[in-house]
Amino acid sequence: MAAQNGLSLEGQNAVVTGASSGIGAAVAAGLAKAGADVVINYHSDEEGAAKTLTAVERAGSRGVIIGGDVGCESDVHKLFDCCEAELGPVDIVFSNAGIQRDCAFGEMSLADWEAVISTNLTGAFLVSREAVKRFRKKGLREEVSPALGKIVFNSSVHERIPWAGRVNYAASKGGVSLLMQSLAQEVGHEKIRVNSVGPGAIATDINADERADDADAIRSLIPYGRIGEPEDIAQAVVWLVSDAADYVHGHCLFADGGMTLYPGFIGNG
Ligand code: BGC
Repeated sequence: MAAQNGLSLEGQNAVVTGASSGIGAAVAAGLAKAGADVVINYHSDEEGAAKTLTAVERAGSRGVIIGGDVGCESDVHKLFDCCEAELGPVDIVFSNAGIQRDCAFGEMSLADWEAVISTNLTGAFLVSREAVKRFRKKGLREEVSPALGKIVFNSSVHERIPWAGRVNYAASKGGVSLLMQSLAQEVGHEKIRVNSVGPGAIATDINADERADDADAIRSLIPYGRIGEPEDIAQAVVWLVSDAADYVHGHCLFADGGMTLYPGFIGNG
């Protein structure tokens, strides 16, 4: 059943990149629960994408799976073509696909740098640029939403918090921060709403090793005292793309249990 009070996404179509696991999978399911039909993009984990499709269909929405690399321009075009052909015009885009290739700075290879920038930043550029073009082509559907389209980037607390041993990742998220804000400034007058979500430590594959090694060390960085779940981010994203957030534009919503609050200063400084 779709949510009420401006939270319903009934009649809207969403594209979610990197939707085969973790935050992307949870957001695809969350959007479906709110009533949207969903394009489920994956890069290598087709089985994961199939599980996401099951969750979308269980929620009573339609879903379609499409493989592709967000760092590749023609793959990104195919994502949007797939949405228009199978579901209809694109209303919502969650630019989520992201990777880490952690390495001490002196040893970081150009390949490690370029892989992260390509997926996390160039991918965000290609996906949002295509979204803007498709929103313009579609035109306003006021019966569906007061916005021509909604874009949410999956950023990170590391668009704000520097991260030793992961300068490629932190640089990519710092780039997403000003990509989001500059794009919001440029296209707001067209009623294209652009925001980010900034997750903290969320229990997904990307940090599985660190959580297995020392979950307490991670928790010590979170004033609210718990590691987040992908559904915590899904709730934030569903709200951000809904009409309940129609006046929220150019904002990064940190959903991080307070990780951005300099918890190292608790009792110090
Ligand atoms: C990273 C995770 C990390 C979290 C908090 C995220 O952006 O992908 O690996 O646990 O930030 O540091």
